[in-house]
Amino acid sequence: MKSIHLEKTVLARLLGLKAAALIVATSFISTGAAQTTPASLKIALDKPVHAVSQTLYGLMTEEINFSYDGGLYAELVRNRTFQDHGFGGIAHWNIEHYGSSRASMEIDPAEGPSAALSHSLALTITQADAANRAGVRNEGYWGMALRPNTTYKGSLYAKADSTFVGTLNLALINDNTGKAAASTDTPALTREWKRYEFTLKTGDLETSSENHLLLTAGHTGRIWLDLISLMPPTFNNRENGNRSDLMEKMAAMHPTFLRLPGGNYLEGDQIDERFDWKNTIGPLVDRPTHRSPWNYQSSDGMGLLEFLEWTEDLKIQTVLAVYAGYSLKGDHIQAGPALVPHVQDALDEIEFAIGDTSTQWGALRAKLGHPIPFHVNYVEIGNEDQFDHSDSYEGRYAQFYKAIKTKYPQLQLIATTPLKRTRPDVVDDHYYRRADEFFDDVKHYDQTDRNGPKIFVGEWATREGSPTTNMGAALGDAAWMTGMERNSDLIVMASYAPLFVNVNPGGMQWESDLIGYDALKSYGAPSYYAQCMFGEYLGDEVPTSSITGEGKLFFYSVTRDSRTGKIYLKMVNASSLPQALDINFSGMNKVMPEAMLISLSGKTNAETNSISAPKQIVPVKTSTRIEGPNFSHTIPPYSVQVLELEAH
Ligand code: AHR
Repeated sequence: MKSIHLEKTVLARLLGLKAAALIVATSFISTGAAQTTPASLKIALDKPVHAVSQTLYGLMTEEINFSYDGGLYAELVRNRTFQDHGFGGIAHWNIEHYGSSRASMEIDPAEGPSAALSHSLALTITQADAANRAGVRNEGYWGMALRPNTTYKGSLYAKADSTFVGTLNLALINDNTGKAAASTDTPALTREWKRYEFTLKTGDLETSSENHLLLTAGHTGRIWLDLISLMPPTFNNRENGNRSDLMEKMAAMHPTFLRLPGGNYLEGDQIDERFDWKNTIGPLVDRPTHRSPWNYQSSDGMGLLEFLEWTEDLKIQTVLAVYAGYSLKGDHIQAGPALVPHVQDALDEIEFAIGDTSTQWGALRAKLGHPIPFHVNYVEIGNEDQFDHSDSYEGRYAQFYKAIKTKYPQLQLIATTPLKRTRPDVVDDHYYRRADEFFDDVKHYDQTDRNGPKIFVGEWATREGSPTTNMGAALGDAAWMTGMERNSDLIVMASYAPLFVNVNPGGMQWESDLIGYDALKSYGAPSYYAQCMFGEYLGDEVPTSSITGEGKLFFYSVTRDSRTGKIYLKMVNASSLPQALDINFSGMNKVMPEAMLISLSGKTNAETNSISAPKQIVPVKTSTRIEGPNFSHTIPPYSVQVLELEAH
């Protein structure tokens, strides 16, 4: 049995992050110093068992943990429409007095710029002059990230009473120095509601999130303000777009789909708090915003079109979840005439996403700037309807299924729980577990009936570590992924959840998330890197393989890319001891000597990444050599590895 030789330091780098710093590779392949008797792994490349689903790995998010507002959605102003719950709607805003000025603020329920935004902030300035300005400041989402030489695009709605004659000043102020990083004035306000656009350009400054937005006036009077927005540069320069660092992190996972818009967020606590997609499209001023079941107001800046554009930017397809008549606190609509408007809403939503421009909703999409239909193959009807103890889902699903299939026979329809009366195309299974539970259940789908519906593991995660998961969770996740890959003839898609968490105090509603961030920076948990590794090295078929003599905490999967001859052997050693392996390949002419080892390793299960130590655990890529079809390899403790080799 020959062993693999390392070329240390060559190609060592952070997986998937193009600009990441080089780090020195550690030798993870040993020539046999393992503490256990080698296990024997045999892989027959000429005997594929089944194809690998090319949509196996995807994304799932919702408005939880400040995933959009205060997260992916790039808006810097918090509570821009004065609908947050605290302080009677004025949370995150404060009065700013300079010198002898005096002012007060309140919500005016009778004044707003639109039917959707029917109230506003009334600011009454009783004393002010050019040297003694008064106004309001917004603290942002735990600060406002400012970078040097950067243009921030803003807008606001305002009107003034007859006594207020003049302009408003907008400035970005450093919290610690009081220095303005950028400043501009609106034209003189009028007595009618009007939208004002402005830009704030920073000069040379130190990047920081300790900044706020300040609106002031140097004269007395009463003004009304609403929808005060400030956007930094966004991914792909989308207007009303997304944070680039988070988009790049998602792209590095090599996802193939996004399940949107939730989760519980689709359902809402009550029916009138569901994701009512028609209220989330068009100009922001026409979006009333709504309460998320995760207990904060959603700005709906991330509306249906923005969700779809996000999938377009990542070049992935949409798994569109439609509201199906059940909300979290138990309210539901029985199948029959009462459900018809919701079925129609779903049909309209699908038409908005994929209808051509001759259709009513496709035409609206075009009018909103996107004539080309989006890529949707799957529609999910509801979310976690096993919690609907009234048993209304059978009837509700059947009604949606019939209506959608009749109009869109090409769509695959997902049920959120197994059904007795209708055979869904796909069933969505969810798993939130400890690592041990995943280890014990990695064979979960090995015996599942292949004649039933396909499986979408639409939410799953090892819940260890907070706010983001630790190395132990990455091992649980990776073990579970080996089982999903082995069964990827049945499992068409899988998406980890939740994806995002704002790590600031009060930012998290759900522990153990994949990507953490504050206003300025973001990082991936060890589990994130495990996802990147499995997503990047997917393959398109599963060869025959067998193993004997392995430890109880060793898991593997092997796939092959029939187009390139590349083989991806994924190995998970969740034990505190190394796992030695004798590997034998058969059914090919030649194993190429050049190979690559990608290794994610921790010193303990508890070791983790954080906002202050974001790269404690990252994958290391090392080139190796393989001499022949038989070789030995030792996987270190607490490690996830992908061995990429080529055989023809
Ligand atoms: O991912 C968090 C929540 O878990 C989702 O909103 C819900 O579908 C599940 O119960």
